[in-house]
Amino acid sequence: MLSAVLALAAILPAFVNAQGAVWSQCGGTGWTGATTCVSGATCTFSNPFYSQCLPNSNGGGGTTTPTNPPTTSSGPTTSTGPTSVSSAPSGPSQTPAAGNPYAGHNIWLTPFYAAEVAAAAANISDATTKAKALSVAKIPTFTWFDTIAKVPDLGTYLANASALGKSSGTPQIVQIIVYDLPDRDCAAAASNGEFSIANGGQANYFNYIDQLVAQIKPFPDVRVVAIIEPDSLANLVTNLSVQKCSNAQTTYLACVTYAIQQLNKLGNVYMYLDAGHAGWLGWPANLQPAATLFNSLFKNAGSPSFVRGLATNVANYNALSAATPDPITQGNSNYDEIHYINALTPLLSSSGFPPHFIVDQGRSGVQNIRQQWGDWCNVKGAGFGTRPTSNTGVTAIDAIVWAKPGGECDGTSNTSSARFDFHCGLSDADQPAPEAGTWFQEYFTTLVTKANPAL
Ligand code: BGC
Repeated sequence: MLSAVLALAAILPAFVNAQGAVWSQCGGTGWTGATTCVSGATCTFSNPFYSQCLPNSNGGGGTTTPTNPPTTSSGPTTSTGPTSVSSAPSGPSQTPAAGNPYAGHNIWLTPFYAAEVAAAAANISDATTKAKALSVAKIPTFTWFDTIAKVPDLGTYLANASALGKSSGTPQIVQIIVYDLPDRDCAAAASNGEFSIANGGQANYFNYIDQLVAQIKPFPDVRVVAIIEPDSLANLVTNLSVQKCSNAQTTYLACVTYAIQQLNKLGNVYMYLDAGHAGWLGWPANLQPAATLFNSLFKNAGSPSFVRGLATNVANYNALSAATPDPITQGNSNYDEIHYINALTPLLSSSGFPPHFIVDQGRSGVQNIRQQWGDWCNVKGAGFGTRPTSNTGVTAIDAIVWAKPGGECDGTSNTSSARFDFHCGLSDADQPAPEAGTWFQEYFTTLVTKANPAL
């Protein structure tokens, strides 16, 4: 016994001093492991629950990654983004351009994701896989503004997109996800956010929206496409039996309404409200309740003209059009996104809700990989899917998009994390997985090798 203790004492210092490998965790609430990284990597703050050893080459993602936890600001902060544009842009019209907002525009590539991909590729030794991995940096994804600390990045992005639009002569789209509701992710744990309803969450959220608006205002020449609050309204359709969701209902509606009204005033932000996916709101019993919620929210918000439609399958794995139904979809005639969209569309007409859609296919390349349709966390064996395009062949679908930046994690598999969700520990969930939103190297490599169409 004593010798065992002595042996333990002998190895303990080495253990405590051990440095984290590239991509491993190196800090966060409750973390007791290594807090420094091997040479070539730096321990970088991601969120209060997670710091990660990112390769030094480029910090693993953007230049604005804070090294300290962001504090919630109680008032608008001074924008760090540019505040003026050199040549006067044509002013935005308060009436949206008719038709598909993607038409005639180029989607600007976010440098944050490109940096994540470059850092990841640098750690892939197989030359063919590395080249394929690098090509992902050229595929546009959305940027998730999942904390208020990230909002100033938007001004920088827009300034660059504006400059590119002028130099290339092709107007640019910057794609963003508005994602910071108080009591966020009310039916799950993995993506719980920084604001809580009990602690001034609604005011904090309004401030978050005001800051987004302030960043966008100087750049009327850039078109912004925004997905509004993944999962929030869908949770209000099916998860009001979860106390956190029923408690959040009024606040979610007030916050989403505020978001779409304020962004609508800008005149260059085209919005798609998140509408879950075929395996969620696409069940026949959920379709009408979902449509009723979208219709009433839209009407009560004053039918904002820049709400263009709905976003489906965000961060999920469903096919747009499945060759044959995945067996797990049994019992739902809407077994893919196209069936879901076609079933939902007629139900939206009563309020004049615009029946246009964008569909995430970023991780939908491989089908029939889930044990249950409800499995959403880092599903094993997923591959990158159909490339973003506005040439969808379906009138109702404005664009196929990549909304979830592939390689960013859905949620941690660490059961002792405050944000552990059991879905991330299921046998069809890839493990070990870091915290939501942080880089998951092994998952990224699989997305690359299993991409369909191939990269
Ligand atoms: C996470 C966010 C992250 C987003 C995109 C979500 O699941 O909660 O933090 O930004 O995915 O990766």
